[in-house]
Amino acid sequence: MKTVYIETVGCQMNVLDSELVIAALKKDGYTLTDTPADADVILFNTCSVRELAEEKTYSAVGRVMQHKRQDPTKVVGVIGCMAQKDGEGVRTRVPLVDMVVGTGQLAKIPELVRAVQETRQPQYALSLGRKDASRHEVEASFESYDPARDPEMRPTPFQAFVRVQIGCDKFCTYCVVPSTRGPEQSRHPDHIVQEVRALVNQGCKEVTLIGQTVNSYVFDHGDGRRTRLSDLIATMHDVAGLERIKFVTNFPKDMTNDLLDAVRDLPKVVKYLHVPVQSGCDEVLKRMKRLYTVAEYREMLDRCRERVPGVAISSDFIVGFCGETDESFDKTMKLVDEAKFKNSFIFKYSERSGTKAAERYPDDVPEVVKKRRNNDLLAVQNANSLADHRQWIDKSVSVLVEGRSKRETSRDRKGAEPAAVPQLTGRTMTDHIAVFDAPERLTGRTVTVDVDDATGFTLFGRVRTEELVGVTGEAVDVPAFRPRRVSLEVV
Ligand code: SAH
Ligand code: SF4
Ligand code: F3S
Repeated sequence: MKTVYIETVGCQMNVLDSELVIAALKKDGYTLTDTPADADVILFNTCSVRELAEEKTYSAVGRVMQHKRQDPTKVVGVIGCMAQKDGEGVRTRVPLVDMVVGTGQLAKIPELVRAVQETRQPQYALSLGRKDASRHEVEASFESYDPARDPEMRPTPFQAFVRVQIGCDKFCTYCVVPSTRGPEQSRHPDHIVQEVRALVNQGCKEVTLIGQTVNSYVFDHGDGRRTRLSDLIATMHDVAGLERIKFVTNFPKDMTNDLLDAVRDLPKVVKYLHVPVQSGCDEVLKRMKRLYTVAEYREMLDRCRERVPGVAISSDFIVGFCGETDESFDKTMKLVDEAKFKNSFIFKYSERSGTKAAERYPDDVPEVVKKRRNNDLLAVQNANSLADHRQWIDKSVSVLVEGRSKRETSRDRKGAEPAAVPQLTGRTMTDHIAVFDAPERLTGRTVTVDVDDATGFTLFGRVRTEELVGVTGEAVDVPAFRPRRVSLEVV
């Protein structure tokens, strides 16, 4: 039996890509293994957004080479963003790598694996650089990879990522994504809706539409008709059996009222918007080329909350970007304090070669200062997250049950005696994580949870009793619910 092992880091795009690559290899007769030592094919699906992510990946690739030295027939592949960015440089750092495949070439993996096995020659499949050819040629070299789906490959069978757009055209000065993922291209709405229908037929209840700037999705039909994200969501909303629609990540300037109205009016759409601001200082935003001012971002926040009452909003921040002074950072602290985000992802600036920021501005904020600012901002956000979560106490929330909670899975790993009634986890319609004790057969169902406690990250509650007794194992195939097969490092 041929086996494949995959390690995945990076964003949701990579999680989806790994799912699809493994499904394609399964068609070729491979099965998935959790141990690289046993695998015939070892893949690393990589992220380049920060240097640390790359360094960790190169170390991990280096470590598995001990298995390849023992058995040279193994095929080791580096795929995804770092493959696209470093190209042949990957083999300069780790010479035994057999295969380097960029984000726009993933469909070729089964054939490249065979080519390595037959020829023992390294194989490359990379898309064109953004300046290497005309826009059309570069676009054509980044193929959206969306083959038929295999429900077994997903972390849960009832949730799926669906790509609506590839690439990015914003060119924020710090960011590698426009070069690793290529030009922004929206998929045909009919293909997306067909994919969602097929997923629902396989038992999927929640889809998360993904794109780097998902709210700038627009498909030009070439006959004067244009489909916006709000139109796409409205069409998808009619798919019977689909219960929830989410979308990430939003670009602040592209947050249009038609989209907000769709979020408000369509009951299946999760009332949650991830709209990263990155900094609370206009000069920093300008150097980042984020295309909006803090005042414009604040207006957008007000508009989101006015048009979608009760909406939860989250953000990303980069601290210690080039030229960020104490005064600029104070402005970011003030914004976080006032904006009342549900949560924020905070990153220390990491200079990336090839980006405009690396060319133009020195990385002049010392590491200790970056670290301190990271902690300071996190403290303000954590206080707000706690207040945000505590407002749910004594309220009831609708939760799509995802399965055993982290506490249970870590007990399972340690070999502890299983609890009579395990703690389960799921998300609410505002994307809050909720945990509660309930039988595992509720996995995949939507239940009502009465919240009685909260931390800054989690709501704690009880499932309504009628739902506990009323459910009869119907259509919930618990064995099909597998733990995550991919190691995901959220960026
Ligand atoms: N397309 C999304 C997210 C892209 S990457 C968006 O525009 O919001 C996810 C996050 O990583 C970014 O929001 C940013 O906060 C962070 N990031 C990107 N490049 C970075 C860099 N060079 N150093 C540190 N953080 C970075
Ligand atoms: Fe990167 Fe900016 Fe594009 Fe997001 S919008 S992927 S941060 S260039
Ligand atoms: Fe995602 Fe990292 Fe690539 S954030 S798009 S996997 S560089």
